[in-house]
Amino acid sequence: MRSEPAPHTSPTALPGYAATGRIDELRATEYRHLDADGRVYLDYAGAGVTAQAQVRAHHDRLLAGLYSNPHSENPTSAAAGSLVESARRAVLDFFRADPAEYAVVFTPNASGACRLVGEAYDFGRTASLVLTWDNHNSVNGIREYARSARGSVRYVPLDGPELRVAESDLVAALDAGRGRLARRSRRRGLFAYPAQSNFSGVQHPLGWVELAHQRGYDVLLDAAAFAPTNRLDLSVVRPDFVCLSWYKLFGYPTGVGALLARRSALARLRRPWFAGGTIRAVSVQGDWHRPMDDESAFEDGTLNFLSIPDVEFGLRWLDSIGVDLVHSRVGLLTAWLLERLATLRHDTGGPLVEVYGPTTGAGRGGTVTFNLRHPDGTVVDERLVAREAAAAGISLRTGCFCNPGAGEGAFGISRAATRQRLLAGVDTIDKYLAALRLPTGGAVRVSFGLASTATDAERFVAFVQSTYLNREAGAESPLPPRLRC
Ligand SMILES: Cc1ncc(COP(=O)(O)O)c(C=O)c1O
Repeated sequence: MRSEPAPHTSPTALPGYAATGRIDELRATEYRHLDADGRVYLDYAGAGVTAQAQVRAHHDRLLAGLYSNPHSENPTSAAAGSLVESARRAVLDFFRADPAEYAVVFTPNASGACRLVGEAYDFGRTASLVLTWDNHNSVNGIREYARSARGSVRYVPLDGPELRVAESDLVAALDAGRGRLARRSRRRGLFAYPAQSNFSGVQHPLGWVELAHQRGYDVLLDAAAFAPTNRLDLSVVRPDFVCLSWYKLFGYPTGVGALLARRSALARLRRPWFAGGTIRAVSVQGDWHRPMDDESAFEDGTLNFLSIPDVEFGLRWLDSIGVDLVHSRVGLLTAWLLERLATLRHDTGGPLVEVYGPTTGAGRGGTVTFNLRHPDGTVVDERLVAREAAAAGISLRTGCFCNPGAGEGAFGISRAATRQRLLAGVDTIDKYLAALRLPTGGAVRVSFGLASTATDAERFVAFVQSTYLNREAGAESPLPPRLRC
């Protein structure tokens, strides 16, 4: 027996939707390429989409001027350098960061920003790394730097079906991480967490930055999933490090990210090497070098000087639309999607959709992760959903989204089960899942962003309903192996 239809049959009927109508205008003009071939784009957590104006601006700039390596001293080099510096100022403006307090280091992506911190942070034996389970692998990977410096690594678990973190667990981990030695030497540790989960969409409190500061920690805030649709105001929240990838905010350019860092925290980092552009002076025979004393000490080699100016364009573009407007639109679509998915029930009465994380729009962003179930309750393999969604022209993401900790929380995988010795010989994801006796290794993720419309959400729900409602488990054609976590 199917349950009652959701009260709002279309997101457009939701209060407040009409006020976000500017996004529909932009979709019909600047983002009209999204609608070529009847596609539905629902992978904004993977990458944002590019406005036509942004591509034009790049093209026009390159054809109107000449830009060369900013490390040289000539007019074309100065032109490139001045655009890069202007982009740095635009980044600080966008995040309302005081230039006296924050520096912008351009990196290849958010992962590159995490690596800069990890490899140069002084973990030593007395500083800990505290991480939430819910973290992208590019943040998880910092633990390897902490371990090789013999620092301690502590994870804060996820708690309950909403996949949030209990603040008491966080406080306990921070306090334990400080330890006896750390208290005596007043050495700091590093706490790293995402402002928004790329798995569940959960928004972890920004107030944890201050909480960790009070306990002597530096904070790395991963804003890669948060910044595209939420305002991050660094005059209010002051993490020591923030990592970002620009293509997630406005689609283009790829290959450019940033580490926003408090200058005081940057000054405490010790780089393990130097490269062209990062040093003021160096001697081969004397075997010494002097690093630059600003952000350029962290920018290895030649910056992507032809694309960094596109970051400034993108930020001004996003500002002209308004992050708050994008936030409202995404919030409405997310709440509607969750509401609709919850109404989908097989004739057996069993739910079609199991959402991992919050099932309402509160305290979350526009990323919704779930698995579909057959009427007998078995999971529809996410690779099948990927294949069938692709055939229907829908771009979504399946797998575990490089966030194994959130996946372990969502699928109830215990610590004991993941012990390395039990997993000897396990060298593929599929073998790992078999060893854990899991019915599936991943989930399906849809995410909304800057140019999302009601039609995108409606078409997705129609696809799920028409393809999977009352569909019995059966022999499917072979599915490809899972390649990565
Ligand atoms: C929350 C989060 N952090 C970090 C990253 C890494 O970003 P990139 O692959 O651009 O380095 C991602 C990418 O999806 C992410 O979602």
